[in-house]
Amino acid sequence: MASSLLRALLFLSLSSLLPPSHPTPPCSSHQFSGTANKTYPFCVDLPALGASLHWAYDSARSALSLAFVAPPAQPKGWISWAINPSGSGMRGSQALAAFMGAGGGMTVRTFNVSDYALEEPTDALWFTVNETAAEYSGGVMTLFARLVLPEKGIAVVNHVWQVGSEVEGEMPLEHGLGPDNLMAKGRLDLVRGTAAAAGAGGGDGRSRKRNIHGLLNVISWGFMFPAGIVIARYLRVFPSANPAWFYLHVSCQVSAYAIGVAGWGTGLKLGGESEGITHSFHRNIGFTLFGLATLQMFALVLRPSKDHKYRSYWNVYHHVIGYTIIALGITNVFKGFNILKPQEKWRTTYIVVIAVLGGIAILLEAITWIIVLRRKKQTRK
Ligand SMILES: *[C@@H]1O[C@H](CO)[C@@H](O)[C@H](O)[C@H]1NC(C)=O
Ligand SMILES: *[C@@H]1O[C@H](CO)[C@@H](O)[C@H](O)[C@H]1NC(C)=O
Ligand SMILES: *[C@@H]1O[C@H](CO)[C@@H](O)[C@H](O)[C@H]1NC(C)=O
Repeated sequence: MASSLLRALLFLSLSSLLPPSHPTPPCSSHQFSGTANKTYPFCVDLPALGASLHWAYDSARSALSLAFVAPPAQPKGWISWAINPSGSGMRGSQALAAFMGAGGGMTVRTFNVSDYALEEPTDALWFTVNETAAEYSGGVMTLFARLVLPEKGIAVVNHVWQVGSEVEGEMPLEHGLGPDNLMAKGRLDLVRGTAAAAGAGGGDGRSRKRNIHGLLNVISWGFMFPAGIVIARYLRVFPSANPAWFYLHVSCQVSAYAIGVAGWGTGLKLGGESEGITHSFHRNIGFTLFGLATLQMFALVLRPSKDHKYRSYWNVYHHVIGYTIIALGITNVFKGFNILKPQEKWRTTYIVVIAVLGGIAILLEAITWIIVLRRKKQTRK
C-alpha cells in the first residue's frame, strides 16, 4: 500500500518535471468521445511512441474489442497495431492500420505483413476482423476494432505497434527507424490486462526445447501410460502372468510418470518463456494430467490389501483415473501436435502407433472374453 503510494507520488513528480513528449492522454485520463463513447475494462500505456491500448476480451469466445490510441508521426500519417501469432516483431504480424483516406475520412485497412515490405490490404488474416472504425482528433488517432481470434482460450499474444508519417493510396509508407519505432513490440496478457516489453528469446535453443517437450510427452502420456494399462488389463487373466503383470504394470507406469513429469516441466518452462501465445487448453490439460498421475502414484502406495473391504472402492478409483489419463493424454498429444506443428510424418507415426496399440487392446479384449466365458462354463459344469 505504502510502496504503491510512493510509486504513484514518484511518478507524478517525475512526470511533472519532464516535458510531455507525446500528446496522447494516458490510460487513466483518456475519454472516448464522439459516436464511439466506449469504455474498456483494460488499458495499458505502451512503452513506445506515446501509444496506449484499451481493450475488452471475452476469452470464452476469443472476442477482442480494442481501441489503439497514438499520435501519427505526421498529421497525414498513419498508426498501426498488430498481433504477431508466429513470432515477435513486424515480420509475420497481422496488422490493422488507420489513416486519413483519400476521401478525407478516417479509414482502417488490414494487412498480412509477411515481409518488411507491405503488400496490398487483405481480409485473409490470422484473426477475423468483425468491425473497425477510426477517429482523428487533437493530434491523436484512435483505431477501434473488434476481432475474433482463431482459437479458444488464447490468453497472451505478441503485439506490435507503429506510427508513420505518410500514406500513398491505401498503403501506409515506411515508418521511421528510431529507438522508439524499434522497441514498439511486446507481450500482451489479454486476460490479466498487462503488457510486457518484448523479452529476448533464443530461436534454436527454443526449438530444441520444444522438440524435447514433444518427445517426452508423446512417449509418456501418449504411449507408455496407455500401454501400461493394456498390460494390467489383459495380462492379468493369464494365471501364468501373475504376478509378473503387476510388476510390469507398476514399472511401466512409474517410468511413464518420471518421463511425463520431465515433459510437463519442459512444458512449464516453455510456457513461462513463451513470447507468443499461451495455449491455455493444452496447459490446463497438462496440469490435470500431472495431478491425476500423481494421484495414481499415491494409489500405488496406499493400495489396501486384496481382501480389504475398501479394495473395491480403490479399484474403481484407480481405474477411472487411469482411463481418464489415457483420454486426456492422447487428446493433449494431438493438441500439442497442433501447436508445435511438426512435420506431418510425426503425427502419422503417432497415429499408427496408437492405432496398433488400440488394435492389440481390442484383440486382447476379445481373447479375454473368450477365456472368461470358458472359465465360467467350466466352473458351472
Ligand atoms: C456517452 O457516455 C456518457 C457517460 O457514460 C453519457 O452520458 C452519454 O449520453 C453517452 N453519449 C452517447 C452519444 O452515447
Ligand atoms: C500471410 O502471408 C504469408 C506469406 O505470403 C502466408 O504464408 C500466410 O498464410 C498468410 N497468412 C494468412 C492468414 O493468410
Ligand atoms: C460481429 O458483429 C456483429 C454485430 O455486432 C455480431 O452480431 C456478430 O455476432 C459478431 N460476430 C462475431 C463472430 O463475434
